[in-house]
Amino acid sequence: MDKLVIEGGFPLEGEVCISGAKNAALPILISSLLSDEAVNLQNVPNLQDIETCIDLLSELGVSVNHQDNACFLKANDVNNFDAPYDLVKTMRASILVLGPLLAKHGEAKVSLPGGCAIGSRPVDIHIKGLELMGAKIIIDKGYISASTANLPNKKLQGCRIFMDQVTVGGTENLMMAAVLAEGITILENAAKEPEIVDLGNCLIKMGAIIEGLGTDKIKIQGVSSLKETSYKIMFDRIEAGTFMVAAAMTGGHVICNNVNPEEMESITQKVKESGAKVEVSENSISVTGNKKLESVKIITAPYPAFPTDMQAQFMALNVVAEGVSEITETIFENRFMHAQELIRMGAEIDIKQNTAITKGNNILTGTNVMATDLRASASLVLAALVANGKTTIERIYHLDRGYEKLEAKFNALGANIKRLN
Ligand code: UD1
Repeated sequence: MDKLVIEGGFPLEGEVCISGAKNAALPILISSLLSDEAVNLQNVPNLQDIETCIDLLSELGVSVNHQDNACFLKANDVNNFDAPYDLVKTMRASILVLGPLLAKHGEAKVSLPGGCAIGSRPVDIHIKGLELMGAKIIIDKGYISASTANLPNKKLQGCRIFMDQVTVGGTENLMMAAVLAEGITILENAAKEPEIVDLGNCLIKMGAIIEGLGTDKIKIQGVSSLKETSYKIMFDRIEAGTFMVAAAMTGGHVICNNVNPEEMESITQKVKESGAKVEVSENSISVTGNKKLESVKIITAPYPAFPTDMQAQFMALNVVAEGVSEITETIFENRFMHAQELIRMGAEIDIKQNTAITKGNNILTGTNVMATDLRASASLVLAALVANGKTTIERIYHLDRGYEKLEAKFNALGANIKRLN
């Protein structure tokens, strides 16, 4: 298994091109299931999760050609409606094939994702929404089996769905299902993340009729088929945020290119509060670290509030910054596993239920640490960049799921990161 060895103490300087967003690319790749026509995607990041998604789509019968950052998909010959446990367990977003398969083919069998490192993560809201659209759903032996055989024309029926909790995946699954349903579907208490807007914009380009993207009420008028499309995936907000925090922590100067600063507001504000200077232009954000780094108070919540996927990175910042601070996680129940590893590097962190209290001013020392989930791993990389000596991060397959060319990008900015096999 690969490891990263990071020598700390180098301020980052230079420009970095931010990749396409994993969390937009995954649902958009899956949306190809809704159409018989070609879907040509650009700015697809090369990541392990994207490979898993392509394996899953290929297994269902989609023809996929993925080269560099382009991906060509055609789903005119889908003949298998089962998403097996082996693929779903490695990537929870596999659950997103449920809505499209059901809407297009009238049947789907998808493994229940089960628990994961950051919490139980149920999919009850996805299932309840599809049931409200008329699907018959049976859960048996760890699989969700869904069918529209009982419905007029075997088509899902548009309806009003109030989602009990704001869910990104649930909103995406139901929005995709509604695109080919009969009549109008209204999703209330929908998630407003830019990645959902990106999926919606791609679907609109394919011929879907969708209003209210980016608000908590999305209205979808079902259509009978979709057309050929080319679409460029949006930038990765979390990758950009990770480089911004790295610039602030190392006291360096980094310009993140290919971003939309408007969609980075909650993160930009916290980087500013930490004392760094942030300048934005139309599609770049420049961060200049300040010698005096202040810790920041964070409460995670659905967009436009502060994203849970950036919480771990700010914990790394807080432990080396001045002052006591608090990070409160409101989305996932078990998302502080990076705290234990940061403590092994010398951080002082107290966990009280869903709040992590950081003491600040800690001098970190390099040691062996273990990546436990994707964003937790990113926080260990950030801590290692400012630690004294060498840090070895094991189980970095988590990082490879979500950060494209991580060490190449950091090293181009002056970091010293080596990958060992
Ligand atoms: C997506 C992102 C993930 C991010 C998360 C929250 C992708 C591929 N992943 O995950 O990086 O951390 O949004 O921004 O886009 N919930 C239920 N029932 C459901 C669905 C969700 O109770 O049916 C709960 C979850 O357990 C969690 C909360 O709702 O507590 C939010 O989860 P959700 O927004 O669905 O996260 P994902 O789509 O899995």
